[in-house]
Amino acid sequence: MIRYGCGQGLVYERIHGHTHERSQHRVDHHRADRSRIESVRESLNRCGVIFCHRAVTEAKRADLSMVVLEEHLSFHTGSLQASRPTYAGFMRSVRVSLGDRSYSILVGPGLLSQLGDRCLALGLGARCGVITDETVAPLFAEQAVVALRGAGFSPVLIRVPSGETSKSLKVVGTCYDRLAAHRLERKSFIVALGGGVVGDLAGFVASTYLRGMAFVQVPTTLLAQVDSSVGGKVGVNLKAGKNLVGAFHQPKLVLCDLDSLNTLPPREFQSGLGEVIKYGIIYDAGLFRRLERDLPKILRRDPMALAATIARCCAIKAAVVSQDENESGLRAILNYGHTIGHALEAISGYGEYLHGEAISMGQVAASHLSARLVGLDSKSVERIRNLFVAAGLPVSVSLTRRQRERLVAAMRLDKKVSGGQIKFVLARRIGEVIWGQNVPETALQEALDLVCP
Ligand SMILES: NC(=O)c1ccc[n+]([C@@H]2O[C@H](COP(=O)([O-])OP(=O)(O)OC[C@H]3O[C@@H](n4cnc5c(N)ncnc54)[C@H](O)[C@@H]3O)[C@@H](O)[C@H]2O)c1
Ligand SMILES: [Zn+2]
Repeated sequence: MIRYGCGQGLVYERIHGHTHERSQHRVDHHRADRSRIESVRESLNRCGVIFCHRAVTEAKRADLSMVVLEEHLSFHTGSLQASRPTYAGFMRSVRVSLGDRSYSILVGPGLLSQLGDRCLALGLGARCGVITDETVAPLFAEQAVVALRGAGFSPVLIRVPSGETSKSLKVVGTCYDRLAAHRLERKSFIVALGGGVVGDLAGFVASTYLRGMAFVQVPTTLLAQVDSSVGGKVGVNLKAGKNLVGAFHQPKLVLCDLDSLNTLPPREFQSGLGEVIKYGIIYDAGLFRRLERDLPKILRRDPMALAATIARCCAIKAAVVSQDENESGLRAILNYGHTIGHALEAISGYGEYLHGEAISMGQVAASHLSARLVGLDSKSVERIRNLFVAAGLPVSVSLTRRQRERLVAAMRLDKKVSGGQIKFVLARRIGEVIWGQNVPETALQEALDLVCP
């Protein structure tokens, strides 16, 4: 049950999908002075009712339906609880349509504090494992656990070391052991609280423990919010390569709390922008134009600009995934810039370049290939390069002759190679790409000349 209250002490309860007005705390508005309203606020908070006076008044004035009112309130509660100004109307919701596995992605500030209520609304079981990493735990684990407990759940916190090395079968094993020790059962669920590493690991644990249990993504990096938390690909690495073991397992809910991005180091944030720009190139010329215009705001992490941008990226990924859940066709377009990007990550030993940095160079190289092979105009090639530069991402890399040979060899090893031919996603224009394109060796070398001077 979710409960919201306002300054007059009016309380709305949402039970089994219906919203009821409750007036047991009601204060007569005309005679209510500030101190009375404050005491109402305290008493509402004590009994677990979220106080959101202004939101209720605003919502009533706008005559919103109860469902919209609820979204509106839930949006406000996050910002009010953090005692910040209200951001009326900018919680975004994106639906991923996959039949009975459909789910919502919510994007807005203050969403972590609603984690418990949102899980309750989904009817998830009483116990849950919250998997997070050593960096994220001190920042957000307490808030997550409090929110879950507040809604009646019994969370078990599982911390893993930060970084890619945690995406391993060994760490999966330690997670299983903790879940077993705390007697999690089929109906229990997993919360992935962290970046893409935690999301992939926790999702894989959820997809396999007890032959699969529900999971909820709370992505805390920009990359995880716009990419890894959406689409249901989960998995871990082997010594032989990245993401070699995994599954398709869709979350029940994705909560993208914009507040979590405030603690993200600038380099990690910019790396996420590498994927954001990609969505503009592969699918949405309008998004690309807005990024050209709004990038300064986004770099300042302006919540309004971020909410719109992240939600649009999620909607694009959701649209692509809904049409091709198991990666047999269209989903390939998400790999624009990734053939060269992955190869660069592989030859430099994962870690030198962040993923977004590697695919930034990969996308610039792919734009040169696109100009040569499928008619992308030179103005667009320039705009693509400029946008990555403005985002603080690298657009060239200096490689020795030996490294460059290894780069091309690594591309041939990429999963997307079939029949010995390297397949590329190429852009006809900004906002429209084609996939499965064969690229002659000479064209590849010429494109590399332009990004590896
Ligand atoms: N499943 C998919 O579809 C998919 C798609 C893209 C990427 N991925 C995977 O995602 C992973 C990369 O994700 P990532 O870039 O989020 O890396 P990450 O999870 O390692 O996070 C980057 C760093 O930031 C820290 N961090 C996370 N949130 C923070 C916050 N709010 N404040 C401060 N620090 C924070 C982490 O502890 C880590 O040190 C890779 O393993 C990649 O394979 C998966
Ligand atoms: Zn990527």
